[in-house]
Amino acid sequence: MEIINGIFVCEDYGEMSRRAADVFADFIRCEPTGVLGLATGSSPMGLYRCLVKDYEEGKLDFSKIVSYNLDEYYPISPDHSQSYRRFMDENLFDHINIDKKNTHVPDGTCSDPTAFCADYDKRIKAAGGIGIQLLGVGRNGHIGFNEPDGVLQGATHLADLTDSTVDANSRFFKCREDVPKQAITMGIDAIMGAGTVVLVISGEEKHEALTYLLDGFYDTHRPVTLLRGHRDLRVFCDKAAYYGK
Ligand code: F6R
Repeated sequence: MEIINGIFVCEDYGEMSRRAADVFADFIRCEPTGVLGLATGSSPMGLYRCLVKDYEEGKLDFSKIVSYNLDEYYPISPDHSQSYRRFMDENLFDHINIDKKNTHVPDGTCSDPTAFCADYDKRIKAAGGIGIQLLGVGRNGHIGFNEPDGVLQGATHLADLTDSTVDANSRFFKCREDVPKQAITMGIDAIMGAGTVVLVISGEEKHEALTYLLDGFYDTHRPVTLLRGHRDLRVFCDKAAYYGK
């Protein structure tokens, strides 16, 4: 691994995942009752595998850990094969000793998303905020489902997915029409309020999004650029994402 301009540039996805997982593992050891902010998608899967391995080797205890996920499609039922609740259960929660009651994923079946979102923010605040937040980035620079826009919302909200996000996520569904066109997402406030933010970026197709963060000014049309203002941002990428080849 090399550190270039404050970015941890790793050899490949495996090294990126391990190094970023180590930041989470340190946090969990230091704050066994801490609050994790979690993400889904292909970027964090390797990191979750590393945390499961650490748990199996007796190096981590999740019994008092609390988690809040960034987002969930809307509408979607929790047992849908592509729901983020199911993703979290299958990739992490079912393999560690976390108490499922302490895991929170936005409810893709709620009848009143506005009330749900307000309550989600209240619960995050009551838990003391997010201690450490894991993020991936969309090809268009989105974080969570805070899509490029003239104004970004601070609070958890129901977001319309852009065509580019629907296109990108259609790889997980039978066809594009099956991809939900909305999602409940944490807003910018909870993300920026996290004690530490760990951003994982892998693959050539994310090179442009990484350059937004590295070269750009704050730009709500490239939401990832807002992270430049975070007090403890750790960016882990692989060579493909850094060099774009
Ligand atoms: C997922 C999320 C999204 C993803 C982003 C990248 O919870 O909030 O912002 O992090 O779309 O997705 P992948 O990692 O699948 O390329």
